[in-house]
Amino acid sequence: MLCVEKDVSEMSDMEQKQVMLSGIQPSGELTLGSYLGAIRNWAERADQFDCYYFMADMHTITVRQNPAELRRRTLTQLAAYIACGLDPEKNTLFIQSHVPEHAQLSWVLNCYTMFGELTRMTQFKAKSAQHAENINAGLFDYPVLMAADILIYQPDFVPVGDDQKQHVELCRDIAERFNGIYGDVFKVPQPYIPKVGARVMSLSSPENKMSKSDQDPNGCVYILERPEDIARKFKRAVTDSEMSVRFDPEQKPGISNLMQIYSCAVGKTYEEIETEFAGQGYGVFKKTVGDAVIEMCRPIREETDRLLKDKAYLEQVYRSGAEKASYIASKTLRKVYKKVGFIPR
Ligand code: TRP
Repeated sequence: MLCVEKDVSEMSDMEQKQVMLSGIQPSGELTLGSYLGAIRNWAERADQFDCYYFMADMHTITVRQNPAELRRRTLTQLAAYIACGLDPEKNTLFIQSHVPEHAQLSWVLNCYTMFGELTRMTQFKAKSAQHAENINAGLFDYPVLMAADILIYQPDFVPVGDDQKQHVELCRDIAERFNGIYGDVFKVPQPYIPKVGARVMSLSSPENKMSKSDQDPNGCVYILERPEDIARKFKRAVTDSEMSVRFDPEQKPGISNLMQIYSCAVGKTYEEIETEFAGQGYGVFKKTVGDAVIEMCRPIREETDRLLKDKAYLEQVYRSGAEKASYIASKTLRKVYKKVGFIPR
């Protein structure tokens, strides 16, 4: 079953908010694609849901990381999410490794997850091909830690991208199996289809989604990137041999992608954009789109930089986030320990 974002106005004040939870790996910089496709819409979710977001640093070490880099990226990501509009007063923001109950529950769930189930995970197959020199047990067990991340908060919804749907399905199976043995311990969460965000394509190969793993570094734009780098990437964006700015994703994927990005950045319709650039060359169009993206990203980058200099504030955010998260997580863990037969200390 899937849920599609409701209009906030449909909610009455009396209703208990449903819980939503998602983890984000601090493994790279935020892309323009994930900003326009998802993150941008997250701020307003807090009106409708009780939202938990955590930096999944424990998942990140399933592939080798540089420790100093990991610390830097975890903090940068936290700061960037706040700068994108996730208000720590309205959302619970925390760091996965600060709430040890995730790891504790994950051990228990390991014993209710089958070897065969984990072998079938497509991400495991892909990642073990990609990191053939380091197929560690954590990589194999990744979906069980993810199931623990989720089930420990008893959420109603888990927003994830396509690549993570199989993991949420497995999480539901584990929850149902456990509940089948011990009664209703876990809420069985639903995957959540976010409200239509943009589907931003690579600037260098517009048939593919914009992604950090793009072969060509010019294909992917990062929202914290320097303006001159953003400008260069848009200048080199692949177009076509026609000379008209017209929305036609089939015939003109490059131009249509740029139109979509421009439309998101400045709020113009495709017709308005077609009129604006009628009779002009692609050069002018690409520069205008690049400038619009630079202006859209500027306040986010400046706010992220400002927050990163305010270590005391970030510390206060992730500490109080972890405290709130721990309170709920420890309640679920206590219940699970009791059910499986562990003696309370
Ligand atoms: N595996 C997710 C990803 O790579 C991140 C993640 C970890 C997550 N734990 C989670 C997402 C729990 C949702 C819920 O995108």
